[in-house]
Amino acid sequence: MTANTSTASAVIQASASGVAKGAAANIPPRRMDFEFSESESPRYFYGNDAFLSHFWNTFSSLLPAGESFFVQAVRHYRDQVTDPVLKAQVAGFIGQEAMHSKEHLAFNTMIASKGLPMEELQRDVSWFLETIAKYAPKSLQLAATVCLEHYTAIIAEQLLREPEHQRMLGDFDAKKLWLWHALEENEHKTVAYDLYESTVGSYWLRAGTMVPTTLILAVVLVAFQTRMMAADGQLFKLKQNAKGFAYLWSRKGLFPRLAPQFFDFFRRDFHPSQHDTDALLMEWKEKLLGSEGLLKDSSFAKKAKAAA
Ligand SMILES: [Fe+2]
Ligand SMILES: [Fe+2]
Repeated sequence: MTANTSTASAVIQASASGVAKGAAANIPPRRMDFEFSESESPRYFYGNDAFLSHFWNTFSSLLPAGESFFVQAVRHYRDQVTDPVLKAQVAGFIGQEAMHSKEHLAFNTMIASKGLPMEELQRDVSWFLETIAKYAPKSLQLAATVCLEHYTAIIAEQLLREPEHQRMLGDFDAKKLWLWHALEENEHKTVAYDLYESTVGSYWLRAGTMVPTTLILAVVLVAFQTRMMAADGQLFKLKQNAKGFAYLWSRKGLFPRLAPQFFDFFRRDFHPSQHDTDALLMEWKEKLLGSEGLLKDSSFAKKAKAAA
């Protein structure tokens, strides 16, 4: 299955009843309908910086297939859930991740239209995840989902918490995509974890899976970004790339700032809700979805109404 077909099937699986259940659990799948026009989307959307924009492009290349993988991993276990609250949260999780796949695919298609090798990267990550889905035990697939959801939650929290990211994202549709996604990652950050705890439950599998998951993620991100930058003729712009690398990895860089939250995952009594984002979510729901919010014209429902 390609990223396109698995994303389409994931969206179809986010049924109307799932949407209603997710909304009742405060994890409402919101159908966006972003239009990323090639001409209005700058090539280097993040701070007009090639290295950093390609870092986020690379991250995005993993998401259509990656989030479909999360949906499948969760679906393997959802029939074992008896708690009605967790059942509704799982429905919301599936709906939100399906929408993220769909919108990142639209974003990635726009990036590909700039002559960048996005389709090749998506194809490779689809192949890798389909192989894992076929051969790895289902418990390991859910544990890997919990690990990757930890990454998305803490990166998303940083995107929302630090104005520097919002400034670097400029005023383009890419900003709407990343901030909407960040909001919803924080809304559903406990779901895969709670599903894992109530079904598989092994601490050692959860903590042990984080190590290879992190190594594979790091290798894939570096290899994919290198391919993206080579295709764009940016690979040997050493001064510019050293600056971008420092932005991510220097002592105060994006990833080192995440280290304390990252390592919390290895505590036996860790739970994602210990990273309190309730006030942050309230603030960003208003900033994005309020009457004057950044997404006020973006939802599919509003567009459909306006067109009627
Ligand atoms: Fe997501
Ligand atoms: Fe997620």
